[in-house]
Amino acid sequence: MIYEFNKLVAPVGRKRFFEEYKGKKYLVIKGNEIKDHFSWKEFEDYLNCIDMNGHDRMPHFQMVLDDGDKYCKRKTKEQLTKKEIHNYWQSGHSAILTICEFLNKTMYRQCQEFEKVYGPGQANIYCSGMNEAECFPIHADSTDNYLFHTRGKVQWHLYDAFAPNKGKVEAGKWRSNKWMLDKEPKADVFTLEAGDILYIPRFQYHKVTAIESRISISYHFHEPFPNQRIRKPWLEFVH
Ligand SMILES: [Fe+2]
Repeated sequence: MIYEFNKLVAPVGRKRFFEEYKGKKYLVIKGNEIKDHFSWKEFEDYLNCIDMNGHDRMPHFQMVLDDGDKYCKRKTKEQLTKKEIHNYWQSGHSAILTICEFLNKTMYRQCQEFEKVYGPGQANIYCSGMNEAECFPIHADSTDNYLFHTRGKVQWHLYDAFAPNKGKVEAGKWRSNKWMLDKEPKADVFTLEAGDILYIPRFQYHKVTAIESRISISYHFHEPFPNQRIRKPWLEFVH
């Protein structure tokens, strides 16, 4: 199901959401119908497009390597082969399909709903194949984030810490968790499952741990700004 913004935040109400949560506090909204946003079959179809006939059909693919390092198909010089990606996946490394809301109408239209409230954004899909799969370490993001859990369970750490200076420190520094190595701040720790949506305000530090195989979609958006690009409507070419 595609959620209009007001419907999404209905459990607390739009007014209260903007007063109490927006930019300040995370929020869990349970029991949503979001299974249709992305499936394991779509995941497998996507990964089988890697290096198809030498054409790059998925430039934005990423994978979590050991110790939280990141493989980025667009940026990493040494490209992984399809077989290597498969081996990483089978040995418990998470896969990230970034900028991929165009993969189906549901995700595309969900972005359109968010963009009625926010500036431009996108969907990234986080997939883990097993319990304790390698995921990203503690970090903060510069966008408001709505995590749609469509399959499986994950444990979340939401830290009692926001990025200093709202991201105005040296690029890349606030994003990392290095400053936390001495003393990890307190965190709320909880488990979410299929159907749950988690709102994370921008710049709040967080971490996820896979409890079992899972798909989580991160719909994340910039704040609105004048003359922002308007997403073209999804057109029905087939009826
Ligand atoms: Fe994040």
